[in-house]
Amino acid sequence: MEHYILALDQGTTSCRAIVFDKQGQIISTAQEEFTQYFPNPGWVEHDPLEIWATQSKMARKALEEKGISASQIDGIGITNQRETIVVWEKKSGKPVYPAIVWQDKRTSDYCDQLKSEGYEELIRNNTGLVIDAYFSGTKVKWILDNVEGARERAKSGELLLGTIDTWLIWNMTKGELHITDPTNACRTLFFNINTMDWDEDLLQLLDIPRKMLPKIRQSSEIYGKSSREFLGEAVPISGIAGDQQAALFGQMCTQKGMVKNTYGTGCFMLMNIGETPIVSENNLLTSVAWQIGGKTQYMLEGSIFIAGAVVQWLRDSLKIIEHSSDVEALATSVPDSGGVYFVPAFAGLGAPHWNQKARGTLFGLTRGSTDAHIARAALEAIAYQTLDIVKAMEADSGIAIGELRVDGGATVNDLLMQFQADVLNTVTVRPKVVETTVMGAAFLAGLAVGYWSDLQDIEKIWEAETSFTPTSERAGIEADIAGWYRAIKALEFWSKS
Ligand code: G3P
Repeated sequence: MEHYILALDQGTTSCRAIVFDKQGQIISTAQEEFTQYFPNPGWVEHDPLEIWATQSKMARKALEEKGISASQIDGIGITNQRETIVVWEKKSGKPVYPAIVWQDKRTSDYCDQLKSEGYEELIRNNTGLVIDAYFSGTKVKWILDNVEGARERAKSGELLLGTIDTWLIWNMTKGELHITDPTNACRTLFFNINTMDWDEDLLQLLDIPRKMLPKIRQSSEIYGKSSREFLGEAVPISGIAGDQQAALFGQMCTQKGMVKNTYGTGCFMLMNIGETPIVSENNLLTSVAWQIGGKTQYMLEGSIFIAGAVVQWLRDSLKIIEHSSDVEALATSVPDSGGVYFVPAFAGLGAPHWNQKARGTLFGLTRGSTDAHIARAALEAIAYQTLDIVKAMEADSGIAIGELRVDGGATVNDLLMQFQADVLNTVTVRPKVVETTVMGAAFLAGLAVGYWSDLQDIEKIWEAETSFTPTSERAGIEADIAGWYRAIKALEFWSKS
């Protein structure tokens, strides 16, 4: 009987489960969206119980649909939306508050306070992060400050804390394992990337009791087995990585200097920087890429908050397209954006600007501007935002980026991929399997259980599908890029005044 690896991808908008075979081929997929809650402007919440119910349903569905039994699964890998945080009761498994999602900005003012109190350097040096509401730390503090009795209960050991990987594994094992891995831990704002442990000073600063924190395990090892209830039989859980690091691994960017960009809700560009962390001087983040076999690799990251989500906005709010995939045809119906620039800062601007107060803005509208120009400007904005990151990454690492590996939903859009290559003046490579996030989780899980024997074994699986080479005439593209920078400057002025 064939054996497989099951990878679970708990993303910001949907839960997926994919079964992979030894050749890295997708044997079965199940996916379902879950509810997004926006209780106040700038707030984003999820129901942790719905996440668990949907994710476990997808895992079972992926097996059932292809008649695969749990005994054919050698290992389970988990990848997840990062930074999103859950606090729950150890005894009942009931969350004390909804999950506060990475996009949630409710703690922006507190972050500004931390900055004005001079904590930026300490936080950058210890965690590799900047002070921003994006990360889990201030969200946890908010729950402990605002849910009655929560801090006291956390101190006494009644409450547990976790990113989504932790929450899923705790449920998959019926409370037996309360663990995370360094790729998730390093996004909390209270994990020290130098000592690879929770940071006592930062826990004190945020008033988060250590007792509620999960144990940190490696990204690829056998942690334990799932409960029988989960899939009908106990299966080893053997891989964990935050979704962006999983994608870096799935793209096989295992050597220093290799870079990937994932075009999902947001865009996340990561560069493998090897075994020594670099402190960014250009507002990028330094995080753990993975920890395998006792060795840690680090990465530089540029996080763009809104990428694919701008297309959803064109669809759901502006209603100028019916399906997300219609955007390419609409944008291609005009030769250019007609001077329109769209900065989709719906959730502030992430790296390298880190402007929490910026908001989505359209520049350069005339009476001749149409929905097609706006659609084109929206796609171009995704590429321009990536350029901002590339520049910062090259400056920090001293490495010229010669190739960009891309993945995620929006990479099917050839117009965007070609424009990306043109703007960056860099070859942009789309792999055969664009499900690299979930593939990365499968690789991590499969490595730990010996499904794949070593890195060389999985490196053979990664294959390029299309390479987009820069074609445009440089002078024109440089002028377009200059327009983008003027738009960013203007928005900065607006958001600060
Ligand atoms: O840092 C947030 C990121 O992990 C979310 O990724 O793919 O769920 O939008 P995604």
